[in-house]
Amino acid sequence: MYRSHTCGELRMENVGNTVTLAGWVQRSRDLGGMTFVDLRDRYGITQLAFNMEVNAALGEQARKLGREFVIQVTGSVIERSSKNRNMPTGDIEINVSEIKVLNAAKLPPFTIEDDTDGGDEIRMQYRYLDLRRNPVLEKLRLRNRVALETRKYLDSKDFLDVETPVLIKSTPEGARDFVVPSRMNEGQFYALPQSPQTFKQLLMVSGFDRYYQIVKCFRDEDLRADRQPEFTQIDCEMAFVEQNDILDMFEGLIKHLFAEVRGVNFEGPFPRMSYAEAMERYGSDKPDIRFGMEFVDLTEIAQQKEFVVFNSSEMVLAINAVGCSEYTRKQLDELTEWVKRPQIGAKGLVYVKYNLDGTFKSSVDKFYDEADLKAMAEKAGAQPGDLLLLLSGDTAKTRKQMNELRLFLGTQLGLRNPNEFAPLWVYDFPLLEWDEDSERYHAMHHPFTSPKPEDLHLINTDPGKVRANAYDLAMNGVELGGGSIRIHDRDLQSRMFDLLGFTKEEAQAQFGFLMSAFEYGAPPHGGLAFGLDRLVATMGGSESIRDYIAFPKNNSGRDTMIDAPSPLNDAQLKELGIKLS
Ligand code: AMO
Repeated sequence: MYRSHTCGELRMENVGNTVTLAGWVQRSRDLGGMTFVDLRDRYGITQLAFNMEVNAALGEQARKLGREFVIQVTGSVIERSSKNRNMPTGDIEINVSEIKVLNAAKLPPFTIEDDTDGGDEIRMQYRYLDLRRNPVLEKLRLRNRVALETRKYLDSKDFLDVETPVLIKSTPEGARDFVVPSRMNEGQFYALPQSPQTFKQLLMVSGFDRYYQIVKCFRDEDLRADRQPEFTQIDCEMAFVEQNDILDMFEGLIKHLFAEVRGVNFEGPFPRMSYAEAMERYGSDKPDIRFGMEFVDLTEIAQQKEFVVFNSSEMVLAINAVGCSEYTRKQLDELTEWVKRPQIGAKGLVYVKYNLDGTFKSSVDKFYDEADLKAMAEKAGAQPGDLLLLLSGDTAKTRKQMNELRLFLGTQLGLRNPNEFAPLWVYDFPLLEWDEDSERYHAMHHPFTSPKPEDLHLINTDPGKVRANAYDLAMNGVELGGGSIRIHDRDLQSRMFDLLGFTKEEAQAQFGFLMSAFEYGAPPHGGLAFGLDRLVATMGGSESIRDYIAFPKNNSGRDTMIDAPSPLNDAQLKELGIKLS
């Protein structure tokens, strides 16, 4: 028996018991007559006490223990003279009678403390040590709880957990595939799934009715705080459903998770907003609605004077930064520089200060008199003390830039409380989006998404206007998940591939299996997938998903701990029939 208790378990009622504990040395304090050692495991920390006067040899042994040594001790539980109210085990300590070093440890490259001195890079390289730290452990515990409660909820609703293959054929979900060469089929490649999309649809054809899987997906795309090359989806599909059935079912899942795991109870149904409205009011398909600062269209007012920049713009947009009229020249210059960065790409930023004394001051005073500025302020619902910020240009770009500025200001003004959760269903996404590079339409969600029947007549004349039965769940400015009602009709699916520029032969080669499945009795079906990493990170109050993944990749897609990716040796390459140039 290595241990009778964990390091987080003992309390006053255990006083007098003889116990055996095992764990890691967190730290030791040598106070001369007494040596104290904090012993740590996953469950907590227990203080060990060594009295030099009672047992000098044992005390000597304790003094020699280094950080992160793995030890086993036996002793009796005693009441502490100075209690530590901040620790669950803080009322007691162990009067050690026996100690055994199970394994010595090198000095770790950073301190294993809540606030460590280790930078990002070193922590990732020694991730197994980083994972010993409480804040990291807590995040993975949260993830475990979310996954477990997801299974409980979906199981209670009759969903079947079905595994789908990882070595598949490319599915077009908008990102590049990771590919795997086949030794047995030289010159041919598998693709790793960007999602199990086609398989879950096939399971509906098979009559499984309700499917789910907590599943790894792989996408070779540029990485950001909320993107990893391999990530996990809670992937779901249902047969014989309409959009509302799906939204209700998964709103139920999110409510269950927040109630069980975070103790947060959402009141009433989640708000819903069409894509068009979200773009108009927030310039984003995943608006953060924890705060207002909605877009105000000032085009009409702004174009009444001789200001060329505004007059030559498709749109003049404003947001009202409430209570910010006293921003200094320097602060305004900084904001201007911020929107002019290449990542944002605005040409400039116009401000209108509605001073507390009711006067106005703006960067375009030359063109607009007090009455014009007042009209702008009124349209924006501004009060004395507020600050209007204006951007202009073509509609799509200006909205995008204003969205960035709104989020930036929201953060700066402390309006994005990580412990507040604002879910929002966004629906009626466009079916297609125009791609400038390839000069053709791409599926905005994926090619299996059904168009709205009432828009079908536009499909040949004005395809960009066709809306899809597609929806996302946004929360706090993050896209937590998305899905759609699928096409289940062979002819419509084939027309869709046509529209996306696939020749008949290409469509047959890539998706023949799905189209032929649709000929054998495919039920109407639809589904969605949540990004588990994003869901957990959002629940944890963070925008970065990396901390919620045990072994994440860095921004160049590398795992620095195992040093992957790495070259193959010549023999392996030869066996796979691969020549490197
Ligand atoms: P979609 O592509 O919208 O839909 O993906 C679903 C959810 O997965 C998460 N996600 C990611 N998380 C981390 N890193 C990434 N690189 C990444 N990419 C996506 C997001 C996203 O909302 N098959 C469809 C679902 C369906 O139609 O049922 C799909 O994959 O949270």
